[in-house]
Amino acid sequence: MKIQLTFFSLLAPCVVYAQTVYLCGDSTMANRGANDGATDGWGPYLGAMITLPVVNKAIGGRSARSFTREGRFTEVANLVKSGDYVVIEFGHNDGGGLGSGDNGRTPCGGSGEEKCQVTYNGQPETVLTYWAYLRNAANLLKSKGANVIISSPTPNNVWEGGSWQYSPSRFTTMSQDAARATGSTFVDHGTYYANLMKLVGKDTTNSWFPRDHTHTSPAGAKGAAESFVKALTCDTTGGLKSKVNSSGYGLRGTCANGSQPSQGGSSGTTTSSTPAPTGGAGGSLPKYSQCAGAQWTGSGTCVAGTTCNKINDWYSQCL
Ligand SMILES: *[C@@H]1O[C@H](CO)[C@@H](O)[C@H](O)[C@H]1NC(C)=O
Ligand SMILES: *[C@@H]1O[C@H](CO)[C@@H](O)[C@H](O)[C@H]1NC(C)=O
Repeated sequence: MKIQLTFFSLLAPCVVYAQTVYLCGDSTMANRGANDGATDGWGPYLGAMITLPVVNKAIGGRSARSFTREGRFTEVANLVKSGDYVVIEFGHNDGGGLGSGDNGRTPCGGSGEEKCQVTYNGQPETVLTYWAYLRNAANLLKSKGANVIISSPTPNNVWEGGSWQYSPSRFTTMSQDAARATGSTFVDHGTYYANLMKLVGKDTTNSWFPRDHTHTSPAGAKGAAESFVKALTCDTTGGLKSKVNSSGYGLRGTCANGSQPSQGGSSGTTTSSTPAPTGGAGGSLPKYSQCAGAQWTGSGTCVAGTTCNKINDWYSQCL
């Protein structure tokens, strides 16, 4: 009996199901970005901050509509196993109107069950709203047992006009509504990336957009991946947040409310959690850690080579 128990307790970790994270999106998320040698998407940078393998199915030029029509959500639905995660993020190719010639990507206007009849590539097509494409994709993936995360689109360069300016597009509202309608997790990636671009300033942000105002350099893509993880750790509990490892904590910037994310909401089946680098008793804080601010109760000692820099009343950071 004793031997059997030991055998089972040794075996147990091996039967823990290996989950995968699938990414569905456009060139801002895709491997190699716009495929021009200078830009990259944020998908490839996510894996360094979470303990699960990432399969990036994002592809340039796609919208929620064309990703649907080309069977790409169906492909992912056929790949997912129960317990896997799927992140859906669209918006950069979803603009325009159907009136002036159909590019195969533009959705039907509206934010609900509206439908538009078009002929695209010689084929009749019933075009749905952006919201309905996300809702349908989320429901399909959830029917396979996937945990779905719907993410608001990243903005273009928010310093383009010379001063920092960000207002969420209608796709942010619709992605949030689609998450609500399907019981999916919503991650406000757009706001967090806009806030990171504010933090790093105009010159650095401009260097993150080497070709145009949409596609990021590798450094900008890494920033976008960090912003996604920041939003995940700040505003969600359990789920994919519980798979974020210590590389995903202590990132630049703050949560939308000015605080720092706390680890927690872990499902209990994850590997040992590493405490967030919030300067507890003694010890010096790693680079990029918070070191002071209105609600900060930790240490103010930064690791050698960095100093505590005030960003705002809420937040100072070891830089
Ligand atoms: C976090 O996880 C990634 C992927 O598993 C790994 O490459 C990275 O080294 C981890 N970071 C830490 C600090 O454990
Ligand atoms: C900010 O939000 C986090 C996560 O929801 C919460 O735990 C924290 O208490 C909030 N902090 C403030 C200062 O409101």
